[in-house]
Amino acid sequence: MSNQRSQPRFIAPEFVRDLEDHFLRVQPENGYYVYHIEQLKQHLAKLQQQDVVKLWFAVKANPLSSVIKTIADQGFSFDVASQGELEQVLAQGVSPQNILNTGPAKSRQQIARFIDRGVAIFVVESINQLVWLNEVAEQKRVTPKVLLRVQLQWPEGEKNPLGGNELTPFGLATQQWQTLTIADYQHVNICGIHIFQWGNMLSNAKMFELWSQMIPPLSQLAETLGFDLDILDLGGGLGIDYLQTGQAINWSTAMQDLAEIKEKANVKEIWLELGRYAVAQSGYYIAPIVDRKDNFGSQQLILAGGINHLLRPAITNQPFPTRLLRTSASECEHFHVHGPLCTSLDKLGEFDFPQDVKEGDALVFGLCGAYGFTESMPFFLCHDIAAEYIFVDQNFELIREPQAPQWYLR
Ligand SMILES: Cc1ncc(COP(=O)(O)O)c(C=O)c1O
Repeated sequence: MSNQRSQPRFIAPEFVRDLEDHFLRVQPENGYYVYHIEQLKQHLAKLQQQDVVKLWFAVKANPLSSVIKTIADQGFSFDVASQGELEQVLAQGVSPQNILNTGPAKSRQQIARFIDRGVAIFVVESINQLVWLNEVAEQKRVTPKVLLRVQLQWPEGEKNPLGGNELTPFGLATQQWQTLTIADYQHVNICGIHIFQWGNMLSNAKMFELWSQMIPPLSQLAETLGFDLDILDLGGGLGIDYLQTGQAINWSTAMQDLAEIKEKANVKEIWLELGRYAVAQSGYYIAPIVDRKDNFGSQQLILAGGINHLLRPAITNQPFPTRLLRTSASECEHFHVHGPLCTSLDKLGEFDFPQDVKEGDALVFGLCGAYGFTESMPFFLCHDIAAEYIFVDQNFELIREPQAPQWYLR
């Protein structure tokens, strides 16, 4: 069977042709990213067609300037987790009023810098963070909003990249937060709770079950501490079907579920900070094939870029969906796909490709718009840093050139 007869779902055939034309024109030697801006816009516009949740974008998923601008234009606010993310979002013209700060490693100095830059909403993850924020707020005569980040444990918990039931540095148990006396923190406005422990969920029913189980302990915490639970921030966690199993979160079902959660929790606002669900599907990684060999009876392809550009397969054991970046009438065969690093971890997966695939061809990986470029390990072995393009108005626009390692080597 040829790969052209079973059209993969992760990429439209017209866009494969656009990518192929561009590849043949530019003849890049290195792997590079392309973000399809129109596709991103249309997806985000659909997510905004509801009045149940306020949407934030978790910048860690993709901090590229053009991506941030597109997301801002669609009415999202921004969750930043570092000074670097904050400066990048501000540089795109986003108002600090539309930024919140999460993260387990906020120092007193960082908190002061964020307040100086106008940030007025903080997800507080420890008692120290609350003490420091309250002190800095007093000095600087501001009253930031605060959401307490809570970690729960369930009797039948599962493992999960975000921790699930495991001990993580993200927030505190309700027992710890219960030791607070709210009246000691006069310079902040504690008005909500943040909770996010389950990443890449693909089942609406499972998410609804987890969200439902969170309500009683969180409502109880707010009541015990004596503050009005106005805002419930449920983080991210809406998943992407990397393995192309056909499972997917249905957005309108999620909105119906969250409307119910909002009512049951009796909160004024539900917030979501979407990462992968917002941007994954609009990003592609294209990698030239450098070599092909037959080894111990297996076919191997060696790419110009591997986990130095696209780390996720090595840490999750899940490949990104991929296909050959050209048409072929050949029958398919099984291939092992490796990157250029000196570790067997540098493997992007095993796939069926047309038998005539060869050096000089390229592969395109889909669903790479989130946790791609900035989650990779670009320094190891000193290969070039991946370029990033956007595809907008039918044109490929180079946002950053492939960078030689001399810029950081000393
Ligand atoms: C605090 C916080 N919010 C939101 C997200 C985004 O998660 P996702 O990509 O699952 O939507 C993350 C991801 O790590 C996070 O740490």
